[in-house]
Amino acid sequence: MQQHPPEPFRIKMVEPIHLISPDQRKKAMQEAGYNLFALKAEDVYIDLLTDSGTGAMSQYQWAAIMQGDESYAGARSYFRLKQTMQDIFGFEYFVPTHQGRAAENILSAILVRSGSIIPSNMHFDTTDANIRARGGDPQNCVITDAFITKSTNPFKGNMDIEKLEELIRKTGPENIPFGCITITNNAGGGQPVSMKNIRETSHIYHKYNIPFFIDCCRYAENCYFIKLREPGYEHKTLLEIANEIFQTADGAFMSAKKDAIVNIGGFLAVRDGDLFQKISNELILREGFITYGGLAGRDLEAMAVGLSEGLDEAYLTYRIGQTAYLGNRLIENGIPIIEPTGGHAIYVDAGSFLPHIPHAEFPGQALAAALYLEGGIRGIEIGSVMFAHPDPQTGEMIYPRLELVRLALPRRVYTQSHLDYVVEAFKNIAQRCQDIRGYHILYEPQFLRHFTAKFAPLL
Ligand SMILES: Cc1ncc(COP(=O)(O)O)c(C=O)c1O
Repeated sequence: MQQHPPEPFRIKMVEPIHLISPDQRKKAMQEAGYNLFALKAEDVYIDLLTDSGTGAMSQYQWAAIMQGDESYAGARSYFRLKQTMQDIFGFEYFVPTHQGRAAENILSAILVRSGSIIPSNMHFDTTDANIRARGGDPQNCVITDAFITKSTNPFKGNMDIEKLEELIRKTGPENIPFGCITITNNAGGGQPVSMKNIRETSHIYHKYNIPFFIDCCRYAENCYFIKLREPGYEHKTLLEIANEIFQTADGAFMSAKKDAIVNIGGFLAVRDGDLFQKISNELILREGFITYGGLAGRDLEAMAVGLSEGLDEAYLTYRIGQTAYLGNRLIENGIPIIEPTGGHAIYVDAGSFLPHIPHAEFPGQALAAALYLEGGIRGIEIGSVMFAHPDPQTGEMIYPRLELVRLALPRRVYTQSHLDYVVEAFKNIAQRCQDIRGYHILYEPQFLRHFTAKFAPLL
């Protein structure tokens, strides 16, 4: 059996987990309205809902937590983080935020107006929703290969540069207050973006005087893919690659709960002094003072250490290897996934796995529910529940091209035998996939419905 690179750490503290019985799982799902977000975490055996804030911190991060300076303003912990931010990202200004969406909210509050268009390769759901909540229109310009699950393009997260330029010309740059790129592309399978493509994206935005922002939650994993897959980068350090990426941009926002391996935290960083002033005002209104931004001093310490650990090559070799291991074992067993495997998660192609369930009956939701009922494993639907929306002009429902179930791997948490257990559960489901039925929605809120919607199985 194929192995993955051994963990470059050993386990010092453990957290017990339990598998409740099939009947208990059935009851838990009924009580949760078949929404996996509504389950009690204790009723989940292997939790692959997200890699966000679920990582295991190192002894160095826990030690740094004890050094947190809880001063309201100008804390030592802020300056420690500032130094790390400077070393990796190099932006003139930054503010900490309590997580990624807080940074997106602040940026959107300042720059997005009714009718603004915000392009990206693919916006993540919270970015998409924050832009829409301010009256803007988020637009995705990822390359077509992103939707071809079997395409082996090594950089399937790339921006379609021609499409981007066409969108800018059609919209008029004056209606585009900023443009984005997401690295890696979570909504499109955790797929990386090449350095060449980041540079070209920057060039196009700047040609039209549009500020360029990077959603960089998983920038370290993206750097590792560039080193692994892009000619000319094999001998560069990951820090050098990160420096090169961020030199192309005017700003970045990050959920530090991913590649900074912390349980809470984020930031918004910019080069422009005037914009920083507006960000500071907004931050003070919504998050806290500019040197803590809704976090405790100890969180800033953990983030400073985690940002460096997240760029460590031995760690990333293991991390990306573990994801590839799970993906390859699923492929060996005939389970369709997005290939090649990306950074933080495996994306199972629920649309192909359950072709008898149409978009309107949510094949991803059906597969995610089946996986929990089978083995107490929690994944997340990334498909029509998350992204389908009515056309503003015609009211006709627009469905995403892919119906996926994401199995996100928390950092430094699960072992190879946990992953083998997940593969066994999929093998069992595959034997009876014809019997799996779709779902309909009983309740949904206006924005980000996947978090709180209630479902019922179709008979
Ligand atoms: C690409 C991307 N951007 C933004 C966010 C939002 O971050 P947070 O959950 O910290 O608000 C996420 C979270 O999963 C993400 O994956």
